[in-house]
Amino acid sequence: MRVISIVNQKGGCGKTTTAVNLSDCLALHHKRVLLIDLDPQSNATLALGIEDADVGENIYDALCGKTAIQNIIREPFINLYLAPSRITLSAAEQFLSGNEGREKVLAALIEPIKNNYDFIIIDCPPSMGLLTFNALMASTEAIIPIEPSSFSMQGLGRLLGTIELMQEQCEHKISYRALTTIFDRRTKFSWEIIEEIKRHFGERMFSTKIHASVRLKEAARAGKPICRFDTSSLGFFDYDALAKEIVDNELVPENPTEQSQAHSPRLTSRGVEFTCFAPHANHVELVGDFNEWKPNQIQMETRKKNGVWHKTLLLPQGKYQYRFIIDGEWIHDQNNEAIEHSPYGGVNSVVNV
Ligand SMILES: Nc1ncnc2c1ncn2[C@@H]1O[C@H](COP(=O)(O)OP(=O)(O)OP(=O)(O)O)[C@@H](O)[C@H]1O
Ligand SMILES: [Mg+2]
Repeated sequence: MRVISIVNQKGGCGKTTTAVNLSDCLALHHKRVLLIDLDPQSNATLALGIEDADVGENIYDALCGKTAIQNIIREPFINLYLAPSRITLSAAEQFLSGNEGREKVLAALIEPIKNNYDFIIIDCPPSMGLLTFNALMASTEAIIPIEPSSFSMQGLGRLLGTIELMQEQCEHKISYRALTTIFDRRTKFSWEIIEEIKRHFGERMFSTKIHASVRLKEAARAGKPICRFDTSSLGFFDYDALAKEIVDNELVPENPTEQSQAHSPRLTSRGVEFTCFAPHANHVELVGDFNEWKPNQIQMETRKKNGVWHKTLLLPQGKYQYRFIIDGEWIHDQNNEAIEHSPYGGVNSVVNV
């Protein structure tokens, strides 16, 4: 039995489309699957053809202890079970925040039923609040859908940081993998972002890519998973390939603490510490207006085998723009949300000392 959260705080990156179609493709492979819609937008519920007016008791009622989770579960398609959501779920975070053990409510809820299923898939909302935290605490694996677009890597540091926090404070191990979604192979830009995702996630990336496919949109609008809508479409082939990849490769929980120690620049007693997570890079350096953007001057070092490169610089007070050069490619700092557009194209990261 595997519990997998589909998580990314970035909106519209394909979480729900992945949750619904992956669940149904797994069901088609004779797996018993429970899909938990943990998003108050209830898009997964709608995408399985259940209208808001027909939902009734839902995951909110189960989380609040008003009903047992068994009472809300339906079977919209054979082998595919759904714990639906409604907009009322938006009140759950406030309700739960007053509870002791508030981040483990979902884990406790699924405990008595989890052996009824081969997979439990959780569709998370686009935020890093208590609902997402509950999903991660209930899961052993996480899939992070990433749409190759500007800023698609932004905020991932925070997500990996949350997984790290869980590891440290709650002793909860969770393994994760990135999934490329809404991929347009015709644009050079998409391939560039794929390279950037690869540099960050290395092996922790699905080899299946989900291509942009209008049929996936149309299926969602028709309230059907793609398997029940158009099995000749690219969308079906992709999600079926993903389901096979997941069935064949159970993720072994790793220690995320080791992998996500990169952070935005911070002031230490020795100066400003810059870090960059690039496990597969051969050479990483730092450039910025503090060295007039000259390459081949400030080399970064890896101290541990965790893929994090470090450099500490003594800088006078002021505001600086900078980038990393990873194997010759100029890239802004994925762990620093402070950015400014460069007059020469792209964005530079910003640090205030
Ligand atoms: N592979 C795809 N090809 C084309 N359109 C897609 C694809 N995947 C998702 N979409 C469309 O993109 C939009 C956003 O997708 P989706 O709802 O799955 O994202 P999300 O991450 O769940 O969004 P939110 O953060 O709001 O929950 C939807 O209109 C969906 O139909
Ligand atoms: Mg969604």
